[in-house]
Amino acid sequence: MLNNNSRGSWSGITGFVLAAIGSAIGLGNVWRFPNITSQNGGGAFVSIYICCVLVVGMPIMLAEFLIGRKTQRNPVGAFRALRPGSPWALTGWLGVVSGFVILSYYSVVGGWVLHYVLLSLKNSFASRSPQEIAGMFTALATSSSLQLFWHLIFMLLTIVIVVGGVRKGIERGNDIMMPLLFLLLCILLVYALRTEGADAGLNFLLYPRWEQITRVSILEALGQAFFSLSLGMGAMITYGSYLGKETRLVHSALYVVVGDTLVAILAGFVIFPLVFTFHLEPAAGPGLIFQTLPIAFSQLPAGHLVSIIFFLLITFAALTSAISLLEVVVAYFVDEKGWGRARASWILGGIIFFCGIPSAIWGQVFDSMDQLATNYLLPLGAFLIAIFTGWTLSHEERHTEFHGGEITTFAYIGWSFLIRFVSPVAVALIFLHKLGMF
Ligand code: TRP
Repeated sequence: MLNNNSRGSWSGITGFVLAAIGSAIGLGNVWRFPNITSQNGGGAFVSIYICCVLVVGMPIMLAEFLIGRKTQRNPVGAFRALRPGSPWALTGWLGVVSGFVILSYYSVVGGWVLHYVLLSLKNSFASRSPQEIAGMFTALATSSSLQLFWHLIFMLLTIVIVVGGVRKGIERGNDIMMPLLFLLLCILLVYALRTEGADAGLNFLLYPRWEQITRVSILEALGQAFFSLSLGMGAMITYGSYLGKETRLVHSALYVVVGDTLVAILAGFVIFPLVFTFHLEPAAGPGLIFQTLPIAFSQLPAGHLVSIIFFLLITFAALTSAISLLEVVVAYFVDEKGWGRARASWILGGIIFFCGIPSAIWGQVFDSMDQLATNYLLPLGAFLIAIFTGWTLSHEERHTEFHGGEITTFAYIGWSFLIRFVSPVAVALIFLHKLGMF
């Protein structure tokens, strides 16, 4: 066993909660959530999503925190410590592999966002026609060299923060970027809610259109919940492993879940009023933030400033998530292979950069990586984590980790029920659906 003190730890509950919220809030909130909500029944989808988050997401998050804090190890080491010599270590492995896969293409999108920060700074959207603005995204998406350049810069930023360590790198990065993110979001909210399209935008996002809800929407909501809450690949096991025994896990999980969901909904409160003010297409798919919104920025009062704020906000969201993805991989090599943190971060970050090159060059590779991760790796990981916590760990192993009365008997019974019966069945349903079983 390595000396655990050398692994690093959070300075306290605030640092941990901010970092976990930083991992959760990402491109999934500001881009994916508004997008699928607009295509899946508005308020009806939002209500289903909130149920999924509370009934499936919250219990699995608590399970990941518990496994991490109990073992103080990376995902592979955690399963090894709890069930030595069993195949459960494969679940940890699956997490490390998922970290590689997700970060390789996540960083490409992170690069696009950096490119848009620069375009905004240069005031490039002003006095351009909608076609010219839409063309800027096409130009980026078809230029391998430009994408590779920004992908490299984004990976470098991620690596530099992770090299700094748990407290001086990850915690400090989140301490700076997350409060700024909330501040920028508040500014944009005040601005967007005063535009002409505010009523129409909110109505579009929140008015329940139940007739658009199908079985597929429910499964979409579950998949989105995992991606958005960073569940199913041990990111929360890894962050939980840097916790001291005194931290209250249930409270922390609640903060993360509420914060992440709130930001997803508020991002919609910013995006749709702007889209409706100019009668643009709200269900524009992937182009929503890179093509549709810049058209709005080009015509809005103070649009230059608003566009800078908007893309900076997304940069902070994407970067604090990317850090957590790299940390899972780095923690494995530090704990299990005895590598130094700097060496692990540079080498693995470099390999992930290379793995991301095909995604930057060929859109199809990008799509398949995203499909592989969100449709297969994360649901499988979440399912295994739920089964492990609910059925393999004994009641004593689970219950003793909640010491000092940090969970009430009622809440514990409720959580045990959800993690043993509800979560695995729900995840199995998404999985079978994705495999085309029904
Ligand atoms: N949650 C992030 C988002 O919403 C993405 C992310 C970061 C993630 N770490 C993760 C997803 C771990 C799954 C697992 O964009």
